[in-house]
Amino acid sequence: MRRQQIEADFDAIAALMPATPALAPTDRWVLAHLPQRRDAVLEIGCGVGELARRIGTTDAIDLSPGMIAEARRRAPERSFTCADLFAWLAARPETYDCILSVATLHHVDFAAALAAIRRSLRPGGRLLVVDLYDRSGIRHLPLNALAFALARLRRREPRALRRAYREHGAHETYLTLHEIRAIAGAALPGARVRPTLFWRYTLLWDKP
Ligand SMILES: C[S@@+](CC[C@H](N)C(=O)[O-])C[C@H]1O[C@@H](n2cnc3c(N)ncnc32)[C@H](O)[C@@H]1O
Repeated sequence: MRRQQIEADFDAIAALMPATPALAPTDRWVLAHLPQRRDAVLEIGCGVGELARRIGTTDAIDLSPGMIAEARRRAPERSFTCADLFAWLAARPETYDCILSVATLHHVDFAAALAAIRRSLRPGGRLLVVDLYDRSGIRHLPLNALAFALARLRRREPRALRRAYREHGAHETYLTLHEIRAIAGAALPGARVRPTLFWRYTLLWDKP
């Protein structure tokens, strides 16, 4: 998907975000796995900044001006910057104790993003990623059916927001878990990649 399209989609989605979005189970996974040392924490693709606000990140960036404007409105005391992740990371080698990113890295070249993140982590720093993966195919049918049924029961987002995400998602492609593990294994030896029920995976890596 083109960068301008991503920006436009998320500017529109920002205007539809509920005032107090509920934390997803994977957001809670991020909170539970923050490292003890976190003097400098970066969130990549912060959206309206809900997680950044709860964590107290040092920096939080997003490509979409609409998302950043909304994040600043909701938490004026925090630092939110409209920036592309590659430009931001290139200027900040060995800077962060923790870098986290939720539902964002599938928009960019995954291998290039991991290499850039790796450079910007301090030795001993931690990367936490939550993102979507491709679980299509007949062998996943039972698991997908269960996930669909439970997702319907848990549904809390406004209808217009769901529609906007659905339209954005129609142009997206995701890596399979196998591809994610291969790329992460090469870029970040020892990275732990785990699937979750709702089409997302978690990745945790500690930089030696
Ligand atoms: C699905 S939203 C997720 C937002 C938030 N993390 C959440 O979970 O609600 C993906 C976000 O990634 C941002 N994004 C996409 N490509 C980016 C890039 N190259 N650099 C920084 N942010 C990017 C989009 O603008 C969008 O706000």
